[in-house]
Order: sequence, then structure tokens, then C-alpha cells
Amino acid sequence: MGLTPGAGAGAMGRAAEPGESGLGDGYFPTSGNGGYDVGNYKVDLKFTPEGHQVEATVEVKAKAERELSSFNLDYRGPKITKVTVDGQAAEYERKGRELVVTPAAPIAEGAAFETAVSYTGTPPTLTNPGLGSYGWSRSKDGALVTAQPDGASAWLPSNDHPSDKATFDFAITVPAKLRAYANGEPGRPVTENGLTTYHWHERSPMATYLATIAIGKFVERRSKAGKVEVITAVDPKYRKSLKRVHDTTVKTMRWQQKLFGPYPFSTTGAIVDDPQLGYALETQSRPVYGGFVPDEAFIVHEIAHQWFGNSVSLRRWEDIWLNEGFATYVEWLWKERHNRHESTRKIFNRYYRQSGNSPALSPVPGRPGRKEMFGFSVYIRGAMTLEALRRKVGDRAFFRTLRTWAVENKDGYGDTEKFIALAEKTSGKQLDRLFKVWLYQKGKPAKNSW
Ligand code: ARG
Ligand code: ZN
Repeated sequence: MGLTPGAGAGAMGRAAEPGESGLGDGYFPTSGNGGYDVGNYKVDLKFTPEGHQVEATVEVKAKAERELSSFNLDYRGPKITKVTVDGQAAEYERKGRELVVTPAAPIAEGAAFETAVSYTGTPPTLTNPGLGSYGWSRSKDGALVTAQPDGASAWLPSNDHPSDKATFDFAITVPAKLRAYANGEPGRPVTENGLTTYHWHERSPMATYLATIAIGKFVERRSKAGKVEVITAVDPKYRKSLKRVHDTTVKTMRWQQKLFGPYPFSTTGAIVDDPQLGYALETQSRPVYGGFVPDEAFIVHEIAHQWFGNSVSLRRWEDIWLNEGFATYVEWLWKERHNRHESTRKIFNRYYRQSGNSPALSPVPGRPGRKEMFGFSVYIRGAMTLEALRRKVGDRAFFRTLRTWAVENKDGYGDTEKFIALAEKTSGKQLDRLFKVWLYQKGKPAKNSW
């Protein structure tokens, strides 16, 4: 679901050609692939603790955007045992992070086709300076998936770029003493011969990096917040925090609905697991906290991403401030609302006193560079950009802009230009200078820039 460069390019009479191996993202040029659009991933995965073995079949339902002689999936997981396209064995070749699939016959333009990839082994934990470890991580008693930004390919043969969102179905089989969680709505667990299969279904389009799997022992709490099902799972090590994490998630979700419009998904909750990742990830509908119990602000941040980043997605990673600056600003709003001695204005002023090349203000959030894409300034100066906007346009236009952004782009996409255009339309003010200075101009923005 989404646009890729090849869209609509199928000129009549053109011979079938291979799909591109990347989408040309400025930071991750080989992430994603050209020539097709994925609608659904069906993940059937079995986990065996002995030897940490994973046996999986992933079915990728996609639509060809032009006639394809072959196409790529992003994949850097364990050994592939079989690839089929529409039920027929297909040729495949691994080239670094790419899996090139050549079906028995070319796929026609506009055709729906289904690729099934089976693999067996242990998916890799990826590491990257600035990102830490991500992809597939081992936990004490199972595994945990956190794949932002380009780590889904560690375990999911996919079109691994947020510009192609899809629905997901999971069937995860584990020894009956363990549990398995993923995104979205649960199905009924089925136990047979000492193995339990857990079913999960994410019905809203989801970026591949937001797909999660958590396997292990967990204590669990379920409730309803209006129509939204709340499921919180906590490693037994953190069992004392289960109720607090669950209740805070519900409380912050309710508060954010008043500000930004209806919660965009059918379920919510949290997964607190033991791998010491040192970060949380806003995995769709059920954020993951890796190795720590989150405080309120952390939960507010990850829940804010459900609107800003998950429902309204990035088309390119360079716009990461639209995720992190927004979620950080929502933390500030929470503090303003719940702490008499705090306000977004005060928090902004504290950072504004720092020097222009302090980590809070540099590099610029609109062009942080790949290594700094999750750097402090993307979060802080990104949030300061929103505070500058609020001061310039006033509360009414500011909150209307955030809300309209979430509502109009629900289950869709946003980029920086589109946000600026909306802010200008909503406020009736010319804002390109403000955004240019705050997002792209090195050094501390002058006082007249808001
Ligand atoms: N998006 C996460 C957050 O909300 C940060 C994830 C950082 N990613 C990583 N691979 N370390 O803070
Ligand atoms: Zn974040």
C-alpha cells in the first residue's frame, strides 16, 4: 500500500524488466524495492528455544506496478529453504541484503501475486553505531523484534521501507510454557502436542519496521478503553510494574485522543521485555520497551507515535523529525498539562539557553544525516520547532494543525513540505522562514524566528 517510483510506468509493449533493488531513500537507498506494492504479509513462524531455532514461512501478497521479469525483497535472515510465486517454485538469489526472485513466468502489470519465502535458522541481531542493536534480539527465554529503521529484513523478507505499508497476519508457534505477542488483535491460541500457536492480526496498514514479535514468559493484563482493546505484557522480572504500565498507557491514550482525534488503531498496550536495548520502539499498537520499565513521559512518547509516525507515516527517513520531534513535543504537552511547574514554553526556554552547537540544537533536525537520525537534536530541536510554530500561530491554529494532520493523513503519509503547507493554510500565515531556520539552518535560531 503506497507509491513506489515505478508506479504507472508500464508503457504498452515494453518488455518485462526486473524491479529496482531500492527506492532511493536518502539514508537507506537499498531499503524497499521497485515495481510492486505489498498489501499483506502473512507470517507463520515457529520458535524452538533449543538452539534458538526459527522456522518460518512468510507470504507476501503484492500487486505488480508494471510487468516484472524479476523482483527483489529485502532480506538478511537465515538460510532460505524455498521460494514460490503463486504456488510455483521460483528461482532466487541472495545478493547481500537483497533477495532476487525470478518467477517461472513474468508477472503482468497490475497483477496480484503471492510470494512465499521459507527459511530456517536464527535471524541476526543487527548493530549500528547510533542505532545500537536492533532487528531480532534474543531474550532470556525467547526473542524480541524491534526493527527501526531498516531491520525488518533480519527476519521478514519484505519491501522494507515505510513508504509501502501493509496489513499483517501472524501465527507464532512456541512451546506451551511460553507466550507470543505481535501487533494488533489477538486470535484464539491453539495448543496441540505441547506447542501453542498465537494468532495476531494488524488490520491497519503498517510499516515493516513497526512489526514486532515478542516470545517468552510474560505476565499479562487486558482491558478495554472504549472500543480499543488494551493488552500489556511484561517480562516476569518487571511484574510489579504491569498494572502501572497498563493503566498509564490507557490514561495517556485517552488524553491524546482529545488532542489529536480518535486513536488510529483497534488495539493498544505495551510489551516490556528483558533485552537491554536501551530504547523503546513505537511498534504499531503495542510499543516495546527494551530492558527497562518506562516512566510516564516514555509511555506518552511511544503512544504519541501511534498518531505521529505510525498512522501518519514517513515517505523518506530524512523526515524523521516528523516522528521524533512530534512525539517529544507531546511529552512536553503532557508535562505542561500534569505538572504545575512545567510548560512547553519553559522547557523550550531551557534548551534555547544552550549554545547553538550543543547536542540539543545540532545537527539540524530537518537534515540530521543518517548517523544522527535518532540524535538528541532530532527529538529536542524537532520539538522546539513545534513550540516555535505554536508561538507564531497561536494555540488555536497550532492544535488545529496537529489534529488535522493526524485526521487527514490517517493510515497514510506525510512529509515536511506537506506539514508546512497545512500549517500555513490553517494559520493563514507565511511560515517557510520559520521552518527553514528551525529545521535546516545551522546554529541557534534568532529570537525573531518565531
Ligand atoms: N523511535 C524510537 C523512539 O521513539 C527510537 C528508536 C531508536 N532506534 C534504534 N534502532 N535504536 O525513541
Ligand atoms: Zn520516538
